[in-house]
Amino acid sequence: MIRVRVPATSANLGPGFDTVGMALSIFNELCVEKSQRLKIEVFGEGTDRISRGEDNLVYRAFFRVFQELGRKPDSVKLILKNEIPLARGLGSSSAAIVAGLVAANAYLGFPLRVEELLRLAVEIEGHPDNVAPALLGGVVVCSQNPELLCVKLPVFELNVVLAVPDFEIKTADARKILPKEVLFEDAKMNVTSVAFLITALYTKRYELLEFGMQDRLHQPYRSTLVPGFYEILECAKRAGALGVALSGSGPAMIAFTESPQPVARAMEEAFRKRGVAVRTFITRPQEKGALELVRIL
Ligand code: HSE
Repeated sequence: MIRVRVPATSANLGPGFDTVGMALSIFNELCVEKSQRLKIEVFGEGTDRISRGEDNLVYRAFFRVFQELGRKPDSVKLILKNEIPLARGLGSSSAAIVAGLVAANAYLGFPLRVEELLRLAVEIEGHPDNVAPALLGGVVVCSQNPELLCVKLPVFELNVVLAVPDFEIKTADARKILPKEVLFEDAKMNVTSVAFLITALYTKRYELLEFGMQDRLHQPYRSTLVPGFYEILECAKRAGALGVALSGSGPAMIAFTESPQPVARAMEEAFRKRGVAVRTFITRPQEKGALELVRIL
């Protein structure tokens, strides 16, 4: 049997649109074993809506590896134990894809290199800042212009609070509302912010995160989909958040902090005041990705 654990991810980290992503200590687990026919069992998040058929995203990724190698896939049983909330901006689709790819690669005796797995993951998901940290762990900076280039950076000692509201946003919809052009001033501000984001994290100048997590490329547009977004962001800061942003394409929000409980409580209250049910998670940046969390049992 193959078992793989895949971390959740938070893409963008504020200004790093399509460029910076981080793995988080919430996991989906996939177990694969031989079976007479395809069987998919789902536990945890998404049990009521994840497909048990051949269109299941984990299975599609699993199948893609066999296809890549020109092989007919074996019949398998997939057991999914999901902790990552679906369609909230926490990389649930990336986790599904990376789980399928890494498990198939292990099942077949590791024929594909990490670069090939990354390429397949990006081909299926589209956004390297989501799939790369799920595969590699850590903080990853990525480019697709024109070659795919992903560089893993180490994790840092901060708590990460996630406030996950009780509604979904599909990434495709959250991309449709982005403008085709942006002001030069806004582009310049994002370049500055992302430079400060990386500086803050890797020189431990955490007081710079407030500026380093500001964004003018996607958050102003997507925040309109989250009731009270900027109010909640301010409440989190007052409770001790160092930097706050939309996680991925939302609607979850991510806050870096040294005092996670008060920040989680403040975000919860602020969402509830707006009449939005919310769950909060206190997590950490996650060093190891699926590549290192796969076992043959
Ligand atoms: N960088 C992507 C976006 C991540 O923000 O649209 C979503 O998967």
